Amino acid sequence: MKNLLNIITLVLCAWLSFCCTDGAQKRKSGEVSFHRILASSLFPSSSSCVLSPRASNTKSSLLLTHRHGPCSSLSSKKAKTSPNHDDILRLDQARVKSIHSKLSKKLTPQYRVSQSQSTELEARDGSTLGSGNYIVTVGFGTPKHDLSLVFDTGSDLTWTQCEPCGKTGTCYPQEEPIFNPSSSTSYSNVSCSSPVCDSLTSQGHYRNCSASNCIYGIGYGDSSFTVGFLAKEKFTLNTDVFDGVNFGCGENNQGLFYGAAGLLGLGRGEFSLPSQTAMTYNNIFSYCLPSSADYTGHLTFGSSGGLSNSVKYTPISTARHSASFYGLDIVGITVAGKELEIPLTVFSAPGAIIDSGTVITRLPPKAYAALRTAFKENMSNYTTSMGQSILDTCYNFTGLETVEIPKVSFSFKGGTDVEVDSKGILYVFDASEVCLAFVGNGNDDDVAIFGNVQQKTIQVVYDGAGGRVGFAPDGCM
Ligand SMILES: *[C@@H]1O[C@H](CO)[C@@H](O)[C@H](O)[C@H]1NC(C)=O
Ligand SMILES: *[C@@H]1O[C@H](CO)[C@@H](O)[C@H](O)[C@H]1NC(C)=O
Ligand SMILES: *[C@@H]1O[C@H](CO)[C@@H](O)[C@H](O)[C@H]1NC(C)=O
Ligand SMILES: *[C@@H]1O[C@H](CO)[C@@H](O)[C@H](O)[C@H]1NC(C)=O
Ligand SMILES: *[C@@H]1O[C@H](CO)[C@@H](O)[C@H](O)[C@H]1NC(C)=O
Repeated sequence: MKNLLNIITLVLCAWLSFCCTDGAQKRKSGEVSFHRILASSLFPSSSSCVLSPRASNTKSSLLLTHRHGPCSSLSSKKAKTSPNHDDILRLDQARVKSIHSKLSKKLTPQYRVSQSQSTELEARDGSTLGSGNYIVTVGFGTPKHDLSLVFDTGSDLTWTQCEPCGKTGTCYPQEEPIFNPSSSTSYSNVSCSSPVCDSLTSQGHYRNCSASNCIYGIGYGDSSFTVGFLAKEKFTLNTDVFDGVNFGCGENNQGLFYGAAGLLGLGRGEFSLPSQTAMTYNNIFSYCLPSSADYTGHLTFGSSGGLSNSVKYTPISTARHSASFYGLDIVGITVAGKELEIPLTVFSAPGAIIDSGTVITRLPPKAYAALRTAFKENMSNYTTSMGQSILDTCYNFTGLETVEIPKVSFSFKGGTDVEVDSKGILYVFDASEVCLAFVGNGNDDDVAIFGNVQQKTIQVVYDGAGGRVGFAPDGCM
């Protein structure tokens, strides 16, 4: 039976590559401008994991998996902890809201997150984890204790839950055993008088002292938080070992982390892992997010991940000043081979960031309106459906064998054009509800966010040292 399925799959794939390669229409530039795809390929059904070959090539490369799916090391509790689509999109909106308020030019009142104890934690950094879609495994301590962390280019401090939970706070349920600093010979507390401890404040985090130990706190926009000791520990990234990495040993943690042990901070601030390992990796990392949860991607430190020839770069923008985020300048959007007529100031006034933790790309309202109009026009012979959650442009593909969807590409400053993969244009609830995976911001001056659905299968290179972010197609399956 299984063999038969394999044969059918092979035949289907062969037929697909013969019949259904990307659209036949050539533009004047020689590029095709629509994707013809099997409708069934939009609905992942497999329950086995296909490993991406590239991930294991480099020693500084970590396997990256979707949090919910057959490739996840944390999938045994999948049924209990998987959020549904509405949860994912609701949390995504909470993350976006907190990013907007953090990057908003006017000073917004700082909100408070109350801990289970009496102290109040100021959520000054105002970030939120969203649905924390992608995870990697990092080794902590001596002996090495492997932990699965949500990775996040929008925040800096890496943290994990630490024993003893429950003495002063609580830990949320996680799948792997919780890290116990007293069983690691390489663990040390950061002292309150250390300059590193003072940096917490300048980096926008909560700081306090307890018996001369440095206490950190991070509040996230959705009332998740972590509080604990700022500490130093040995980190093992695949086979690379780093001593004395500053991290948060969280003894009081709460939130929707869905069983992951904590968070890997890949932002631009001084506490982020790329900053702390810059001597070795030169502040460069790259990743590829797989097209579906049935595939793995990779997170690679110190290189563009083996596609250096095809990577096209755009400068990191400093217009939107934030220590953690990677800013970009969007200069145009093309749909079905035609560049949309959007005045440059629509993009330049609010600016844009790229974020691994935001699911759906957010655009300035006028840019989204133009994108939606062009998309709808091209999709006019498909049956529309209701719209769901934050997505307002949806189609009913029930009964269709193949569909043709217009290509979408982004132009960034410096002449860098990035074509969104066919899996990065639509968000699929089910066959009768397949939606354009973009959302318009509420205000003209809310920052645009290039989100992780649109980054699928693209190799994204973060070159902090060179002040640039790069993109290459086909980074993973
Ligand atoms: C770190 O501080 C905590 C709380 O004071 C203490 O229990 C623990 O032993 C310290 N760890 C080390 C390695 O000093
Ligand atoms: C710092 O910690 C002490 C007790 O450890 C607490 O009384 C105080 O309220 C804390 N300060 C802030 C700003 O949270
Ligand atoms: C959508 O765009 C493609 C590529 O430009 C074109 O071939 C197709 O005819 C368009 N469809 C509609 C309905 O406009
Ligand atoms: C949509 O329109 C194009 C061109 O007009 C046509 O070739 C295609 O078969 C139509 N698709 C559907 C689903 O009707
Ligand atoms: C989608 O289309 C199918 C077939 O035309 C129809 O039976 C179904 O009710 C539609 N679903 C929705 C949600 O509109």
